Amino acid sequence: MAGHWLLARLGKRVLRPGGRELTERMLDAAMITDSDIVELAPGLGRTAQEIIRRGPRSYRGIDTDPAAVEHTNRRLGGAGTVTQADAANTGLPDASADIVFGEAMLTMQSDRAKLEMMTEAFRILKPGGRYVIHELGLTPDGLDDATKQEIQRALAKSIKVNARPLTSEEWRALLTRAGFTVREDTRFAPMRLLQPRRIIADEGISGALRFARNLMSMPEERSRVLGMRRTFHEHQKALTAVGIVAEKPR
Ligand SMILES: C[S@@+](CC[C@H](N)C(=O)[O-])C[C@H]1O[C@@H](n2cnc3c(N)ncnc32)[C@H](O)[C@@H]1O
Repeated sequence: MAGHWLLARLGKRVLRPGGRELTERMLDAAMITDSDIVELAPGLGRTAQEIIRRGPRSYRGIDTDPAAVEHTNRRLGGAGTVTQADAANTGLPDASADIVFGEAMLTMQSDRAKLEMMTEAFRILKPGGRYVIHELGLTPDGLDDATKQEIQRALAKSIKVNARPLTSEEWRALLTRAGFTVREDTRFAPMRLLQPRRIIADEGISGALRFARNLMSMPEERSRVLGMRRTFHEHQKALTAVGIVAEKPR
């Protein structure tokens, strides 16, 4: 089972590297109010609920996972709609969104698939629209290839997903290739997904306690989570959460 679904099974709801804090900063930068917004890969719908709280004109989500689609549609109770589709081929009309928002979903794709998804975001955005991403990054920009490959291998082994984080310069270059103008102010947050303080900040005290209780009672899952935490810790100097705002030129 992929690491994010393992964490979800244990009760974790926030499944992105910079946690809720970076999400809030990216939502502020996106300027949601009165906009038509598409969220790519809403997963368990925590950000979807936050977006709806901010009063968009409309909310549409796209996720490949049928259980996530059902779960989030239930949580939204009609305030928005999530459809099962691939982010590279959403089926949404051209130029129909003011904002496309996506968290922790490009990282797990090959560079080619990342570009296809960015190109799809470009297609569905209106001219002047914003594409906002929150993904796993590598630092510094000049990180050598051998270290990058070692990190990719370690992540693949522990998360069981071919995670391919990029440096902020590489994320920006790919967005530019897809046609976007990338804003200068990249935002960063430490990659602390599995550190106790971040878990409490993301899930609240009762969510963190539920997660801890589940960990105690599920030994196999616990050993996998500890393995993921070890990997993140071992590579913490080179791992970071990255938030970028890109614009479709008018
Ligand atoms: C790590 S979770 C992140 C979920 C959520 N964005 C969050 O930050 O909590 C990755 C999500 O990406 C979705 N996903 C993976 N590949 C996808 C694709 N090709 N198109 C759309 N969604 C995809 C998964 O189903 C899952 O919901």
